[in-house]
Amino acid sequence: MSAQKQKTMRAVVQDAFGGPEVLRVREVPRPEPLPTEVLVRVHAAGVNPVDWKTRAGSGMAGVLGQPPFVLGWDVSGVVEAVGFGVTTLSVGDEVYGMPWFPRAAGGYAEYVTAPARQFARKPATIDHDHAAAVPLAALTAWQALVDTADVRAGQRVLVHAAAGGVGHLAVQFAKHLGAHVVATASAGRHAWLKELGADEVIDYTAVRFEDVARAVDVVVDLVGDTHDKTALRSLAVLRPDGLLVAVPAGVSPELADTASAMGVRVTPFLVEPDGPALTRIAELIDAGEVAIEVEEVFPLEQAAQAHAHGENGRTRGKLVLRTTPVT
Ligand SMILES: NC(=O)c1ccc[n+]([C@@H]2O[C@H](COP(=O)([O-])OP(=O)(O)OC[C@H]3O[C@@H](n4cnc5c(N)ncnc54)[C@H](OP(=O)(O)O)[C@@H]3O)[C@@H](O)[C@H]2O)c1
Repeated sequence: MSAQKQKTMRAVVQDAFGGPEVLRVREVPRPEPLPTEVLVRVHAAGVNPVDWKTRAGSGMAGVLGQPPFVLGWDVSGVVEAVGFGVTTLSVGDEVYGMPWFPRAAGGYAEYVTAPARQFARKPATIDHDHAAAVPLAALTAWQALVDTADVRAGQRVLVHAAAGGVGHLAVQFAKHLGAHVVATASAGRHAWLKELGADEVIDYTAVRFEDVARAVDVVVDLVGDTHDKTALRSLAVLRPDGLLVAVPAGVSPELADTASAMGVRVTPFLVEPDGPALTRIAELIDAGEVAIEVEEVFPLEQAAQAHAHGENGRTRGKLVLRTTPVT
């Protein structure tokens, strides 16, 4: 009896750390689900800053190790097979998720396998391109606001980089929680952010945000100290005992010491897979309370262009790769 030919799939592989040009599509073995895992046929994969940071050798490179590897954590697709023990999902279910993070998930591919409970049913009212844009950004915003900061109605929340992938969802979640939302963004994004629920918008290119924002309970910092000491400067806008969630790069000793001297709090943050939170987020999307903005969809073959675009740091909402032809 001849050995069965191994099934393959297309994936974006990188053989070395480097610029966007290291991303190449090639045929690789298709994974098989282990017990408690599902095999998902990926229709679209979200692109996140951690992807291009890891591609270049920072981000989660320390977790993934040396290339070759396949980047990508955000996926939306259809369950193709289930492993032994899976009771929550069935073949044919449309799902979305951010499986395995921060370990490699291999999302820039036609198939992924991951624990069933790290997925949730995809929001019914949006397509796979939009659903793939949601998980990492939405879980970050949700876990920062709800699980980390425990934001309550009436509190004042400042979101830096409000026009980006995480930011535009943080604005909407904070509004949903009943907060007064202050957002920093360039002027061209202000009208859109007000539509999403921002009560005040600050053009960070024209004014020092700390001269305008006052008595803030929670800062969701999506910029960090690499740009004009955004995290350090944010401490001055907090109420006594207010909290800054330092999302991009953790808490430096300088930030921790200054916060302690000023009587405010800072916390590092790393997003985690969370199927139940994705179910709640899908409900909010399907209820029309939260909208996901996708600036551009690229075919899998153009992963390098998607990274080059994202690395400019000016994306409105999200970028997505599609494994099926983009018309
Ligand atoms: N720790 C974690 O678990 C975690 C999770 C998710 C993301 N992150 C990190 O959080 C950061 C944001 O992620 P993202 O996906 O939201 O990024 P993104 O979508 O690439 O952010 C792009 C946006 O940033 C805005 N922006 C750039 N510089 C700004 C500044 N100085 N002030 C205000 N807005 C500014 C731009 O808006 P304008 O054009 O209006 O300036 C643009 O819309 C990244 O560093 C990412 O790696 C960390």
